[in-house]
Amino acid sequence: MHNPGLQARHLDAQYVRLHVHPEEFAAAVHACREAGMVGINCTIPHKRAALEIADTVDPHARRFGVVNTLVFREGRIFGHNTDGPGLQRALEEEFGAPLASHRVLILGAGGGAGRAAAIQCAQAGCARLTLVNRTRDKIERLAAELADEYPADRVILQDVPDPGETDLIINATSVGMNPGDPLLLPPGVLETRHCVYDMIYSPPETPLLAAARAAGARAANGLSMLLHQGTAAFELWFGPPAPVDAMRRGLLESLPSS
Ligand SMILES: NC(=O)c1ccc[n+]([C@@H]2O[C@H](COP(=O)([O-])OP(=O)(O)OC[C@H]3O[C@@H](n4cnc5c(N)ncnc54)[C@H](OP(=O)(O)O)[C@@H]3O)[C@@H](O)[C@H]2O)c1
Repeated sequence: MHNPGLQARHLDAQYVRLHVHPEEFAAAVHACREAGMVGINCTIPHKRAALEIADTVDPHARRFGVVNTLVFREGRIFGHNTDGPGLQRALEEEFGAPLASHRVLILGAGGGAGRAAAIQCAQAGCARLTLVNRTRDKIERLAAELADEYPADRVILQDVPDPGETDLIINATSVGMNPGDPLLLPPGVLETRHCVYDMIYSPPETPLLAAARAAGARAANGLSMLLHQGTAAFELWFGPPAPVDAMRRGLLESLPSS
């Protein structure tokens, strides 16, 4: 998605992929900077090391505890995290309402992506936050962690998801990626008023999204989250606004099914 974005902005630059072993990470980052690169994205297993190598980490990335975007500027390394902001942009684009207006239920809130989603929803000031996770103690720890920045009486922990008092449901589990995966919600609980976002984008239609559409609810897969963590990174490197349409086309064209 980045190369079509660079072309759309007439920038004489290229986005390239480097495979780096953890023990080589610091040397690779410094080599990239010295070679005149604008910045890098990094993914598992480098996100913690990226936080440590940055001279300055934005408060948001520090809150998440991991960095996925580095910017090289004026001889310094700046660390950011675009996962949470990317999710917020995606949700607001897909469902046309500010995240703050939603009562959110997160399936898999104890996983990495679910925790990031919960922090983003709390920071956006969503109306209510219901956390569901197979392993209960992870959401108990998360709820305690959120207490500093979000009213505890607006957080609900559930073992069996009940979306009765919510309007936005986010699947942050990996359930739905494999054929035959179950629906994580009890049957019949989805209604037309629900917005359902599945972070999974491959396959594009999970049992949860199919159930949402069958119930007349609005439904979207995680491709827009992937796109917008990229548009947020692009803006950190080159300034806003990112060429979203060109990046979206590039992303769609890169998918194996297209
Ligand atoms: N669209 C995007 O840009 C984007 C970005 C990041 C992640 N994702 C997707 O988000 C999903 C989660 O990724 P992650 O990195 O957060 O993984 P993770 O840290 O391994 O977390 C996995 C989550 O799924 C839950 N889970 C797994 N199997 C389950 C089952 N059979 N029943 C109920 N819950 C189950 C886990 O519960 P326990 O805690 O009980 O194990 C945990 O909450 C993946 O599908 C990933 O592809 C998408």
